Formats: sequence, structure tokens, C-alpha cells
Amino acid sequence: MICLSSTAGSPDGALRQLRRDAAHLDLFELRADFFAELQSEGSNQHRGEAGDGEVGADLAGAVNWGRRLSELAAEARSDWRALRPEAAALGIILTIRRAADGGRYQGDEGFRLLVLEEALRSGGFDYLDLEEDLLGSDAERSVVAAASSAGATIIRSYHAPDGISAELPHRAARAATRENEIPKLAVHADGSAAFLRIIEAGEALQSVRRIVIAMGPYGVAGRILAPRLGSFLTYCSSDDGRQAAPGHLTPEVLAGMYRYHELTERTAVFAVIGDPVLHSRSPEFHNPVFRSQKLDAVYLPLQLDDLSALPALADRLGLQGVSITIPHKSGVRRLLSNAEPAVEAIAACNTAIRGPEDAWYGYNTDLHGFLAPLAEFFGGAEGAQHAPAAQETRGPDLTGVRCTVIGAGGAARAVVYGLLLYGADVLILNRTVARAEALAAELGEQLETVPPRCAALEPAADALVREYRDLLVQTTSIGMEPEVEADPLPFYEFCGSEVAYDIVYTPPETTWLRRARRAGCRVIGGNAMFEGQARAQSALFLTRINELHQHGAGQ
Ligand code: ATR
Repeated sequence: MICLSSTAGSPDGALRQLRRDAAHLDLFELRADFFAELQSEGSNQHRGEAGDGEVGADLAGAVNWGRRLSELAAEARSDWRALRPEAAALGIILTIRRAADGGRYQGDEGFRLLVLEEALRSGGFDYLDLEEDLLGSDAERSVVAAASSAGATIIRSYHAPDGISAELPHRAARAATRENEIPKLAVHADGSAAFLRIIEAGEALQSVRRIVIAMGPYGVAGRILAPRLGSFLTYCSSDDGRQAAPGHLTPEVLAGMYRYHELTERTAVFAVIGDPVLHSRSPEFHNPVFRSQKLDAVYLPLQLDDLSALPALADRLGLQGVSITIPHKSGVRRLLSNAEPAVEAIAACNTAIRGPEDAWYGYNTDLHGFLAPLAEFFGGAEGAQHAPAAQETRGPDLTGVRCTVIGAGGAARAVVYGLLLYGADVLILNRTVARAEALAAELGEQLETVPPRCAALEPAADALVREYRDLLVQTTSIGMEPEVEADPLPFYEFCGSEVAYDIVYTPPETTWLRRARRAGCRVIGGNAMFEGQARAQSALFLTRINELHQHGAGQ
């Protein structure tokens, strides 16, 4: 179930958030600790008590707040009913989160508990979030009794906003002590190993209904796959600038992009792994493909700082395939059982697919993505030797085509490999010539072909570029945002007959590419390469999904 946590500073703001996202919600958590008025009343209470010892004000203020919250719950329910008459009842959770647990309430604890008690007595709440450290204390007794009379279920929460401590197993076990309560663990994950440990702590709870959240970017995949990890709800925040907790997604993204309500144990899960990875464009490419083909599959970002956590996470999350991005393209090769030749030649793998008996197979669709747009300009060639196994066997016919590649890093390696594979004559220009020479020698030997020529990236190379100007490929970060004015080849005047290809895609047209287009050249931008590699990856994912269907194995 999708639960919206309100983050507005006032009751009216909370209702506005509910209305805005009503279409996607099952539950609403009223986070009263965000209400500025309640915060200050709780804090003043504290001062008042110390000053004049007036206890009566405590009670009156708490009763007043309890009623307000109860009225707010009733209003939320009727607003929601008006917006979604066909849906089941909206479940409402009452929470006043303490600052020490990552919330906003810093006031008097006695006042907080009185407000909760009064709100429950006044009615309207289905759940109450109550902390594990209060379990069995005198302080909580009348709150628990009020919840019980109101028929509200207690969510017994343990929060660790600073991350895992030695206390985790003990505190988690305590949160699960009472059978009629729902234990909740909300623990910050400072990396992939922590994410895994939080999942395991959740499994150890063994409660039929439980809530397990790994907060922060490393746990986002767990928020999307909450039901698979045994969590009966996932929390999210409105898209208005405030998050109730780090890592929250919006209800619209959860329900729309990730089809949260359709995810089951059988859903085939795919992910992009990298660090950072939450801004990857890949989910926006792959999820619509799955949806349009009516496939029970989802694609999500999995931020991963440590590759050694990947096998266990892949099992827990049910991963069937992954896209791999910076910084794992090289390192991931050690986890593969097998790989297409290009993966070793380029020393980079950007796609891995699970096969029978949990073997993982590696591919490099970046290579295909780079080559795909070239076929349009240079015609197709039937399967070259070592053609990327995953893709169509037609590649561009580059026999005798004279190409200049700018750069000699990781990206250039894939580019030069692809060009040589399809028969091109290559010149590599790099700021550091020795690096270009090492790359040229290595790829020449690997492909048993004439190694590329090399030169320094400076004006003296102008005459050489004129010799190698059928195709110019720019592989460095020069011209990438934010330094969009930079030009990697300022000394070179385009004659207009070149094909200019820049693999940078932010901005979609670099200064250099614009200069080429204005000179009459045919141009290819980095988006074409991104989409080419994503299409090839999608074909691999669909093959895996078909295999799963054929074997009826689910996962
Ligand atoms: P990637 O995997 O993106 O290719 P990389 O392996 O770090 O990244 O390679 C970066 C490439 O961009 C190299 O060719 C680098 O030149 P050097 O080998 O001389 O370092 C080139 N590059 C990056 N910034 C550059 C700059 N400001 N001027 C010239 N070349 C630059």
C-alpha cells in the first residue's frame, strides 16, 4: 500500500497534499510534528511547566490539539471519499515524530503523549505510530488503552536516522514483541552493505505485517519493492520540496513509473546499478517499454557503493538483469560467469543478465549504442567478426572510412574498438599522447589489425585531422555541462562533408556539434547513443522475461 506522509507546516497544507495525490494513495500518515503551531505549543509547554508549574494548561492544550487532529482526520477522509468514491476506505496513521527519531517535534514528551491520547479518544485514526522505547512504560499506558478502545492498531516503530548500531537486532526484536502491533524498522542505510543488513533485520522479524525501511539513497530500491521485502506499506512524500524522510519518492512516481500496485512476487525486477544513480534516465526508458508490452516487469535505480553486496541484493530483490553505470562497469566483470568478447576487449560491461542456475552473463550495449546511428550514414555490414552478440548482426560498413577519435579514455576505448571492428582507419587525438598510443597498440593487437595512428590534441594535428575526416568522434567531457562553451577541436575548420559525432548528451547539442552542423556537416548527438544502448539492453531484458515465462519458473 502507498502511504503519503504529510510534510506541510499546517493542517490545511496537509489536506492540500492529500488532495493532490489522492489518486495514488491507500494510506495517509498525518505527521503532526510538521505543524509549526504544535511544535511551538509543545516547546512552550515545557517552559511553562518549569516556570510556574501549571499542569492544567497541559491538559487543556492537549485536549484542544487532540480534537483538532481528530477533526482533521475526518476532513481528510471525506475529502478523499469525494475524490475517490470507488476506492476502499482511506487508512489514516497518526504520528508525532520526535526530533531524535528524524522528526520535527522537540517539545515536551508528556504533552506529546497527551495529544496522541486525546486524538485517539476523539476518533478518526486507524493506526498510531508509537515508539519502541516506550514499550511497557507508564507513560504510554493510557495512550495504548486509548488506541485499543478506538480500534486503532499500533505501529511500533524503531527509528535509527544515524544508521545501524549494535542495538539493531535487540531493538528490532523488542519492536515485534506484541502480536497485535505492527513492528516498524526505519534505519538509515549509509551504503549497500547496510541496506542488506536492514533487509535481513526485517526478515528476522517474522511478523505477518511489518514495515521495513532503509532510509537514504541506498535504500530507495527497497521502498519501491516494499511488498517483496515483506513491508505492508511504503511511505512517500508530496512533490513540493519537502521530504518526510530521506529517499522518499512521490506517490505519482511510485504508482505511475514503477506501477507499485501491480508488483507481485512474480514480477521480473531489473535495475540500474551505479553510485550515484538516482538521476539515471534509464528507468524512464525501460519502464514504459515494459508497460506498453504489458509485461509483469519493473526497472528501478539501485544505488550501489560496494559490488560485493550485489549477489545477495540481487537474490533478495529478485533481480533478473541490471544496467551498470559509473563506477562499476569494469569491476562488475568479476561477478560474471560469461561475457561477450567485447566486454573483455573494452574492459567494460554495462549489462548483466541472470541465466540458468543464477549464472550472470555480461554484455556491452554501449558499443552497439555507439555503432547503431552510424549505419544510417555508412550503410550496413553483415556481422563482423566479434560483432556484439546481443544485438542484430548488422553494423555500419566502415571499410576504408577514415575516422578521428578525440580522447583515449574509457569511452574512447569502446568507440575505437567498434570502429576497428567494422573496418575503419582510425586516428586518435589525445591530450596525453602516450595514453592514446597504449590504447592503439592494445586494440590493434586484440583485433589483429593495423593499430590506429596517434597524435597530440593540439593545433599541429590539424593536417592529420584533414586526412581522417570522414567521421569525427568526440569522446571526452569537453563541452559537457556545466562548461558548455568549451570546444575540443578549436583549431579545426569543418569543410562540411564530415560526419560529426559527439557522445556527450548534456547538452543534447554541444558547442562543437553545433559548429559542425552550421558548417553543413551531418551530426550525431549523444542521445542517439544513449537510446541505442538502451534499446539493445531492452532486447536483452525482454529475452530474459520470455525465458522466465517459458520455464514458468517465476523467480
Ligand atoms: P571516460 O571513461 O569518460 O572516457 P576517462 O577514462 O577519464 O573518462 O577519459 C577522459 C578522456 O577525456 C581522456 O582522453 C582525457 O585526456 P587525458 O588522457 O589526456 O587525461 C580527456 N580529457 C578530459 N578532460 C580534458 C581536457 N580538459 N582537455 C583535454 N582532454 C581532456
